[in-house]
Amino acid sequence: MISLLVFAACDTSTNQKTQNKASEYVVEPHSFARPNEAAIQHLDLDIKVDFEQKIIVGKATYSIVNNSAEVIVFDSKFLEIDKVEADGKETKFSLGSFDKMLGQPLKVLITNQTKKVTIHYKTTSKTEALQWLNPQQTADKTAPFLFTQGQAILTRTWIPIQDSPQIRITYNATVKVPKNLMAVMSAENPKSKTTDGVYTFKMKQPISPYLMALAVGDIEYKAVSGRTGVYAEKSMLDKVHYEFSDMEKMVVAAEQLYGPYVWDQFDIIVLPPSFPFGGMENPRLTFATPTVIAGDKSLTSLVAHELAHSWSGNLVTNATWEDFWINEGFTVYFEMRIMEALYGADRANMLALIARQDLEEEIEGFKETPNDTKLKLDLKGRNPDDGMTSIAYDKGYLFLRTLEEKVGREKFDAFLKNYFKEHAFSTMHTERFVKYLNENLLDKNKITFNTEEWIYKPGVPANQAIIKSDKFDKVEQSIKEFLGTKKVETAKTKDWTTQEWVHFVKNLPANIKPDQLAKLDQAFNLTNSTNSYVAMVWYEKSIAHNYHGNGVDSKIKSFLNSVGRRWYVNTLFKALKKAGRTAEALDIYKTARGNYHPVTSNTIDALLEFKEGK
Ligand code: BES
Ligand code: ZN
Repeated sequence: MISLLVFAACDTSTNQKTQNKASEYVVEPHSFARPNEAAIQHLDLDIKVDFEQKIIVGKATYSIVNNSAEVIVFDSKFLEIDKVEADGKETKFSLGSFDKMLGQPLKVLITNQTKKVTIHYKTTSKTEALQWLNPQQTADKTAPFLFTQGQAILTRTWIPIQDSPQIRITYNATVKVPKNLMAVMSAENPKSKTTDGVYTFKMKQPISPYLMALAVGDIEYKAVSGRTGVYAEKSMLDKVHYEFSDMEKMVVAAEQLYGPYVWDQFDIIVLPPSFPFGGMENPRLTFATPTVIAGDKSLTSLVAHELAHSWSGNLVTNATWEDFWINEGFTVYFEMRIMEALYGADRANMLALIARQDLEEEIEGFKETPNDTKLKLDLKGRNPDDGMTSIAYDKGYLFLRTLEEKVGREKFDAFLKNYFKEHAFSTMHTERFVKYLNENLLDKNKITFNTEEWIYKPGVPANQAIIKSDKFDKVEQSIKEFLGTKKVETAKTKDWTTQEWVHFVKNLPANIKPDQLAKLDQAFNLTNSTNSYVAMVWYEKSIAHNYHGNGVDSKIKSFLNSVGRRWYVNTLFKALKKAGRTAEALDIYKTARGNYHPVTSNTIDALLEFKEGK
């Protein structure tokens, strides 16, 4: 293992204290960069967003920490490199052989004195981070839209960069866009449009390359509090503002738990429906799907989740994608704690039980490859996407919740608060965490805990925390009653929340018959639910149990044609495939595919064995 200490100066802005943090670069399978020889430290990005040609053109100038290297290696994928300069003078460069997953190493000749490297480049039509939307694919339908998605290894497809989560850079950017559009980034952002379409950005806290982000569209800003607010297209802005009106309260609750929010501003941009994720924690500006705008704030745990990443992920970052649970497991734990603080243990426990069931299903799905149910993964030669499953999220959560119950909340909270403080702006790998946990929590308090089993073994250990919810017990009771009496008691369901409905639908038994589903649909019109989550689990059930009433099939088709959130889309296509309806799935996919971000279409291409041009 190559390891070397590097020192990066970080200005944490709120405490204005310049600290020197030591971090270690471990070898990782998803980047060609060799940061121990020469590492990027700051980026000046100067780009033009060309909606006509659907490309980004510009230059990236890096300040580097040079350990007497004569070559600096960047990651790049599907980029056209026009020219490279070292300290302002043109220099030689070469692109190595192309790897389908990783792209190409870009090797630039430097001298041991070189301090700056400038890369002139263009993106191409293959660029996977970008989605260019025509006006029809947006909410307002009047202007085009562009957004990026960097995690896990896609930033290299829109900026040549050392694309490892261990790298941290500050950046400034100048972005030129068409005059009627606004540009926003994971940085200090404009609150209104400029007259010339030129926007300048500054990100003064060092971030990992996967957190570089840009969105361009006809958007507006509306503040929720002094430091929180929302961006959306005009027709969505008020709805979004209402849905996320607890943002400030969430930041306050999070700060009370695990220390100050160090990124100054916390905004959310709601993107067009093709955004491939629920949310993405781009620093200072979370990117979110419009599918959470339910009208009743019932899906806002997503805000708590992305906010939590401001500590777990953005401040203390997984060192490699094999340590992904360090980002997501901690974030789900933190998310539940924020939800509990704001809305009570009942709501948090319902969310936790849904996560518990998702975990069970994921483990069942991995029964042929149990190694994929370990928290610490082995992803050599595999796409990081393969490791981005419920295991990292929900097993990670269950581990931390079990640990909390073992040591007591008070000690656990103090431990976590220190963990974030002591590792702020640095990376964490699993082994380092285990050591830190032993030294600072377990050994100190003479507590024994099966940490190794949780992290390095498949499945769920026997000492798992038992999560209980009276509300869900009642939902399960209702299912039993319905099955026994064949009657639907609408009085009992009248005050059900989204989570109760999701639990109800998900827990209908495996032998449920189409006519029973029809009865439920008559009573509750689930096929026409306006809640995307309830609709999605209902569609999944309908497909699995051969229900075709109430126009559900055409609803599924239009859902798949309008929403690009990978989790939803993948769940439904998988269900169709499992039900032997692959031909129908392919038929829908042929038209829907053009609306999906490459993150989603890559997944569905593989699932349905779809080849372009066929
Ligand atoms: N960071 C993830 C999204 C992600 C994961 C992007 C892996 C690329 C690769 C984000 O924080 C997330 O977990 N989003 C969830 C929502 C959340 C409430 C569980 C999602 O998109 O569904
Ligand atoms: Zn997350």
